[in-house]
Amino acid sequence: MRISVIGCGYLGAVHASAMAALGHTVVGIDVDERKIAQLAAARPPFFEPGLPEILASSTATGRLRFSTDIADAADAEVHFIAVGTPQAPGSNAADLTHVDAAFEALLPHLADGALVVGKSTVPVGTAARLAARLAEAAPHAALAWNPEFLREGYAVKDTLEPDRLVYGVGDDRAQHVLDQVYRAAIEAGTPRIVTDYATAELVKVSANAFLATKISFINAMSEIADAAGADVTALADAIGHDARIGRRFLNAGIGFGGGCLPKDIRAFTARAEELGRGEAVAFLREVDAINLRQRQRVVDLAVELLGGSVHERRIAVLGLSFKPESDDVRDSPALDVAVQLRGLGADVLATDPEAVGNARARHPQLAYTTSTEDALRDADLVVLATEWREYRALDPVEAGRRVGVRRILDGRNVLDPAAWRAAGWEVRSLGRP
Ligand code: UDX
Repeated sequence: MRISVIGCGYLGAVHASAMAALGHTVVGIDVDERKIAQLAAARPPFFEPGLPEILASSTATGRLRFSTDIADAADAEVHFIAVGTPQAPGSNAADLTHVDAAFEALLPHLADGALVVGKSTVPVGTAARLAARLAEAAPHAALAWNPEFLREGYAVKDTLEPDRLVYGVGDDRAQHVLDQVYRAAIEAGTPRIVTDYATAELVKVSANAFLATKISFINAMSEIADAAGADVTALADAIGHDARIGRRFLNAGIGFGGGCLPKDIRAFTARAEELGRGEAVAFLREVDAINLRQRQRVVDLAVELLGGSVHERRIAVLGLSFKPESDDVRDSPALDVAVQLRGLGADVLATDPEAVGNARARHPQLAYTTSTEDALRDADLVVLATEWREYRALDPVEAGRRVGVRRILDGRNVLDPAAWRAAGWEVRSLGRP
């Protein structure tokens, strides 16, 4: 099929490359000239495992190209809208400026019978509003809402082999077109739920609300475990064996961040309030509050470990991205903690395998290094903030030779405390004795 993908960020660049890898002819559109120049040269503008390979192979076939001119999308049969919906300034609601701008820019270029497919995460009701606008401005085109569930770090795999497909459609033809787009996944037996616009929109936000709630649940348990002298990781293992609960997304620690979970639960709350049902999701405020409190707990614990003040003490912060295998620092708890410690006067040296550039662009006041060894040198305290494999694999004896004082705060509960203590380290974490 001939496909356009409008918006080439973490979602759109992967979606465009993956659709071309599946054999479609794809044009990726973005207003950011630098990003488009990089993509056109088959250079990913961000770190995502597997993306360089599919970007290069798809570009080489000639089936994938990139442009800043939306008119280049005109001959596509299917247009995916994959622009961002960040948190609006000064509000909990989602900012739909980019979705509306992309949609309006596309309208004059829609061929007869074209299908516009929303992928961006939007407040429920958005698709119906855009469908009404489409009916008036381009009555021979149709709209579908097809939420995206990819996880950063696994985005290529999640796009090529999704665990489910959700179509919010207004008619059968839209379903038929999407079935052609996703033929490979459908033939592989991927479950597909065909529903109305509002349900499709809600599937996405409720999935993220559930995941956020699961993480905040275990983080709340970590607070209780701390007060009671219990171990939250053993607790998670034990409750996780109950198939109704499941062990995944029960890792207590510094909390969730990124471009999705935090802003999606806030936008959901704001939209529910608009619908007069704020009370139904009032618990999401608590989920958000528990999550933000974890960052504060890490900072407070650092202060405690350093005897009441971090002022002018050397702190190595390992990890800046919001999760491993990503260079994304949007709403990153790791970066937030590093910045807060610096704000308290600590001599912070922060490191990350991929995210130093993005972190520096946002917080130039912090000192950075790309070398773990440099970060550890003479540290009074090490804070493990993002559980990259290389930090999980640190050798406590080796690391112990580099630091000033063997003291580590495991913000992700990923180290073996016994092994580290045996190497002479003082080890603390959230929710473990
Ligand atoms: C999430 C959803 O998983 C995905 O389906 C949706 O499309 C977009 O939002 P992503 O933001 O890439 O994806 O990250 P995810 O793997 O969900 O992790 C989110 C945050 O939760 C990270 O900061 C991670 O470190 C944290 N987390 C995750 C925990 O703190 N504990 C856990 O047990 C799991």
